Amino acid sequence: MPAFPTLLNPSILMAKLTLDDLDLRGKRVLIRVDFNVPLKENEDGSREVADDTRIRAALPTIRAVLERGGKAILMSHLGRPKGKPDPGLSLAPVAKHLERLLGRPVVFVPETVGERARAAVARLPEGGVLLLENTRFNPGEKANDPDFARALASLGDVYVNDAFGTAHRAHASTEGITHFVRQAAMGYLLQREVEYLGRVLENPDHPFTAVLGGAKVSDKIGVIENLLDRVEHLLVGGAMSYTFLKALGRGVGASRVEDDKLDVARALFEKAGGKIKLPFDHVAATAFDNDAPHHVVTGDIPDGEMGLDVGPATVATYRSILLKSRTIVWNGPMGVFEMPNYARGTFAVAEALAEATKQGALTIVGGGDSVAAINQSGYEKAVSHVSTGGGAMLEFLEGKTLPGIAALTDV
Ligand code: 3PG
Repeated sequence: MPAFPTLLNPSILMAKLTLDDLDLRGKRVLIRVDFNVPLKENEDGSREVADDTRIRAALPTIRAVLERGGKAILMSHLGRPKGKPDPGLSLAPVAKHLERLLGRPVVFVPETVGERARAAVARLPEGGVLLLENTRFNPGEKANDPDFARALASLGDVYVNDAFGTAHRAHASTEGITHFVRQAAMGYLLQREVEYLGRVLENPDHPFTAVLGGAKVSDKIGVIENLLDRVEHLLVGGAMSYTFLKALGRGVGASRVEDDKLDVARALFEKAGGKIKLPFDHVAATAFDNDAPHHVVTGDIPDGEMGLDVGPATVATYRSILLKSRTIVWNGPMGVFEMPNYARGTFAVAEALAEATKQGALTIVGGGDSVAAINQSGYEKAVSHVSTGGGAMLEFLEGKTLPGIAALTDV
């Protein structure tokens, strides 16, 4: 990843204990990671990790703990089990994958708290790594139950949160636990996320452009409101642009629209005073299908057709704005990029971010779909920062306090 030349020190980083502040020698270090990763099922019914971006992102913290003489006790959720064990959401395949990445054994414990977990932790040697079973198999996790949090805390001497993707959840392993440990610090991944995203909110270089896409305006209202005063441009794409266009009286044909958000969209557009840019040409198709007849439409989309990507003229305009920007945040694809015929707008944004980064801009990509798109485009190493957060990144950009960060020890 290109080095960002300026020292980043958003105020929150200065206020919280970090991994480097801890004495780790001989300590049991409880690390909350976000190993909520996609799994795929093999023909024999076994499961394996389909995308290990989040696991790799946690490696620097795990390695640092081991190098500094600590024992790493890892906790994570996976998916959304209903507070009870669900074999399809076991972290066992993740433990195997982590073992390969680390090149050393990882002890997997098929429970979170209890006798087996305590015994496994007690047996863990210095430099050892252990992964507990999915924290959400216990109803106390999401309920932020103090008894569950206390039991988790008793497995370690210090606590490190490196789960940025889950920092917006006040759960037992992210928030509650901090009340039962002497020191609760940020891991390197969390620190890096806060450095980059905090910089964007606190003192971005200008021009600052946000690119927002994806299906729903409703997911992005808070972000738009919080960024409007900070940015010069807010480039909109994806299906959310059709809600804006319909709200402004434009023809959107059969495009996906949130009809109950038309008033909100209109109000945001008016408040933005020209900062919100909307696509003015589209790739429109007769059906939601890669092979459906499609063509470029300028202006209104005819009845019976739906917009599935931004058009080439919009791409050119967005690109030229991006290349003049000094700070760029991107969340949400410009079209249905999973279908090759509607992927051009999204990949063009990825390419423009890579070029802007080369010219010295600070560029951040986040959100599951945009991260998948930047990975597919091959530009993931050509931007300043790829966030591991989906909902967490949006809440951070909304200016909300993330409970998993707020709860860490103040310095
Ligand atoms: C995510 O993938 O966004 C995080 O792991 C949080 O997951 P959740 O939305 O199920 O809390």
